[in-house]
Amino acid sequence: MIYALKSMVLTMLITFSFSAVAVAGGDAASGEKLFNSKAFKCKACHRLTGKKKVGPGLKGIMSRRSEGWLTQWLSDPKRTWDENSAETQEMRKWKKGRDKAKKTNMKMKKNPSGQEVMDIIAFLKKNDES
Ligand code: HEC
Repeated sequence: MIYALKSMVLTMLITFSFSAVAVAGGDAASGEKLFNSKAFKCKACHRLTGKKKVGPGLKGIMSRRSEGWLTQWLSDPKRTWDENSAETQEMRKWKKGRDKAKKTNMKMKKNPSGQEVMDIIAFLKKNDES
């Protein structure tokens, strides 16, 4: 009985600490730096308003796309484009006729890492809320 109680408390503690990490997730300040960085050049192609540049304006992105899809897209646009899931097909329609394009135009020197993707998403969330 005592043993069962102990393991229950332990499970609760572990679950709690993991969800605390998940809530902490990305760092918006770091995401902003990455967005403006020479390494990824997001800023060269995207406005933080609703207006398009080379790619779509990113205001409202968190309500337009799921976080899971965004994570996948930012981690590897080319692969996500090629896999062409329903959500990718939705995104491809951002400009008339673009859904027929064969390749993504989102070209980066390298793809952001897992933590970098989380930071960028935290920044995009903050941008949507401001
Ligand atoms: C060379 C230009 C370019 C760069 C650099 C670039 N993007 Fe993109 N991005 C695009 C284009 C163009 C699209 C539209 C889809 C396509 O054509 O591939 C897009 C699509 C997106 C989308 C989906 C938009 C929607 O409405 O669903 C997001 C989010 C995004 N980019 C974020 C970023 C972030 C964050 C970075 C930096 C880490 C970045 N992009 C770097 C050009 C770029």
